[in-house]
Amino acid sequence: MRKPIIAGNWKMFKTRDEAIAFIYKVSEVLPPVKEVDSVICAQAPLMRCLIKRQGQNLRIGAQNLFYEDEGAYTGEISGKMLASYNVEYVIIGHSERRAYFHETDEIVNKKIKAALRNDLLPIVCVGERLEERENNATTKVLHKQIKGAFEDISAIDMERIVIAYEPVWAIGTGKTATAAQAEEACAYIRGLIREMYGSVIADGIRIQYGGSVKPANIDEIIAQENIDGALIGGASLDPDQFVTMVKAAVKK
Ligand code: PGA
Repeated sequence: MRKPIIAGNWKMFKTRDEAIAFIYKVSEVLPPVKEVDSVICAQAPLMRCLIKRQGQNLRIGAQNLFYEDEGAYTGEISGKMLASYNVEYVIIGHSERRAYFHETDEIVNKKIKAALRNDLLPIVCVGERLEERENNATTKVLHKQIKGAFEDISAIDMERIVIAYEPVWAIGTGKTATAAQAEEACAYIRGLIREMYGSVIADGIRIQYGGSVKPANIDEIIAQENIDGALIGGASLDPDQFVTMVKAAVKK
């Protein structure tokens, strides 16, 4: 049995006051962590105020890290720093970072290694762009991204990884992949992990779907066999919607 994981990706939204208002609203009403992992991935300046108030059942994650632990890298934030704040998860390879900040599979791989050596749990994003789907290149893209991301990552380390399948054309567009499209891609990803790491790892690894997930569609998505949760942007900004979606995942 894989424990479901619902992660909110706040992107570059919320001020300190807005973050505090959110956390007070959700921390007392989230289902217990033994049933579902609830995670909010926030911007670095919000970490301290969230971690101080996270309560029993919420985990805090970052949206990015740099692949060196320290050094002359003005403006970057390391895994070592995040770990020192008790941040637990980190999103790596989000399509916005790949598109706007030129993150390649090689960089994604280095960031995964940096997260793991600092005891952070990586949420690794993969997914095809619209033209790639239209050219029937979805599995080819996923294959390349996954092989690149997990190069030299051991089976033991894979047990700490969450994969998020996020088709780029469904992110922030209101266009969700159909549950069948999402399931097909997630099943492909699990099959590939099985080829690379064997059945025990493949059966245990958690795969999320992300892209316009909201209370109205989460039930159908989470019901799919190979989908163990969701990575949620827009709808995670609203505390009531976030809690509703976490509760929907418990039912799985
Ligand atoms: P969305 O974003 O839910 O707003 O589509 C998902 C994501 O980018 O992780």
